[in-house]
Amino acid sequence: MTGLIGVLGGSGAVGRVVVDRLAAAGHPVRVGGRDLARAKAVPGASEAVAVDLDDADALAAFCAGCAVVVNCAGPSYRVLDVVARVALAAGAGYVDAAGDAVALEALTAGAPDALVRLPAVFSAGLMPGLSGLLPRLLAEAGPIGRLDVYVGGSVEIGRLSAVDALLTRGPRFGHALAAWREGRVVEHALAPLRGVTLPGFRGRVHAWPFLSAEMVALAGALGVAELRNYTVYATENLPEVLATAWADDEPPDAHVDAVVEAARRDVEECGRHYALLAHARPPAGSGAGSRRVLLRTPDSYELSGVVAALVAADVLEGRVPAGAHHAADVLDPRRTAAALAADDLVTALELPKDS
Ligand SMILES: NC(=O)c1ccc[n+]([C@@H]2O[C@H](COP(=O)([O-])OP(=O)(O)OC[C@H]3O[C@@H](n4cnc5c(N)ncnc54)[C@H](OP(=O)(O)O)[C@@H]3O)[C@@H](O)[C@H]2O)c1
Repeated sequence: MTGLIGVLGGSGAVGRVVVDRLAAAGHPVRVGGRDLARAKAVPGASEAVAVDLDDADALAAFCAGCAVVVNCAGPSYRVLDVVARVALAAGAGYVDAAGDAVALEALTAGAPDALVRLPAVFSAGLMPGLSGLLPRLLAEAGPIGRLDVYVGGSVEIGRLSAVDALLTRGPRFGHALAAWREGRVVEHALAPLRGVTLPGFRGRVHAWPFLSAEMVALAGALGVAELRNYTVYATENLPEVLATAWADDEPPDAHVDAVVEAARRDVEECGRHYALLAHARPPAGSGAGSRRVLLRTPDSYELSGVVAALVAADVLEGRVPAGAHHAADVLDPRRTAAALAADDLVTALELPKDS
């Protein structure tokens, strides 16, 4: 099925890949951004439109005529449901490469009528996104007692995404050092793992416990007794910069340069690499073996674009029901894994087997 797909922010790190993958699949793509020349230069764009998402008329004109609108403009935690509402009002399905629970909740509080007949899918990236989806493959072979998830690595962070990284703090986003145990969040349950080696990650890394809203939902969906989630850093540069920023009363924008620079230094020192590892232990006494999923990519931003494009295709093909969802709840884990395995941006994909 074809239909015009609008990619807002299609000239960015995530958006360019969304455009590329959708155009390669034969979909006409309208690229939008504030800089028209930059939007026009995106390979695969069939139309380019100058649009600032803060300009309601321009945003409505951008969405008009689209079957699906994919939002890759941000910062996501400031944009929230702004683009979603305009896309739905224009009769388009909606996909957001980021957003997470705060954006979905913003949309469903005073949900637009159109949500009864159209889907809006948030968290359609790597994390959130694949981090909430791929561990579900571990539940295919039987119940999970404890699930450990590690996501991270070393990759440049742009200024816009740096604002999002700085904004993801506080209980609406997750709980630092917390674990999920027996149906509830247990604060201060875990300590950072410094200088550890982890399967699939390059060299010694630092893993910081962070029980995100996505992981709380995953724990509930899989009914695990315990879930531990870690953000993995190649050096201590980024955790130090983020801790400094989070301890500060200044607006997060004051720390954007430091985040961008810390990520740049990581790449300089350690190269560009990123991994997602999920390890499941069976419930005590079940006798089953442990299982794992492992994905590696050189670029988490670009791979997020692949995920958003897969969700957009699902929305276009009518595979996503009306209403607001997270991508992890509507993507088919096996189909997605097969698509990822065939994508050049996935350099390793190990699916569950007894180990
Ligand atoms: N789920 C995940 O795993 C994941 C991973 C990576 C990133 N993300 C999220 O994806 C989003 C994009 O990140 P990115 O690194 O690709 O950003 P980026 O490289 O800075 O690209 C941003 C894009 O949005 C456009 N844009 C910015 N402000 C705009 C505005 N006011 N109106 C219209 N267009 C605007 C930019 O074009 P102009 O400057 O020309 O307007 C550009 O095309 C961020 O929210 C980030 O947090 C999610």
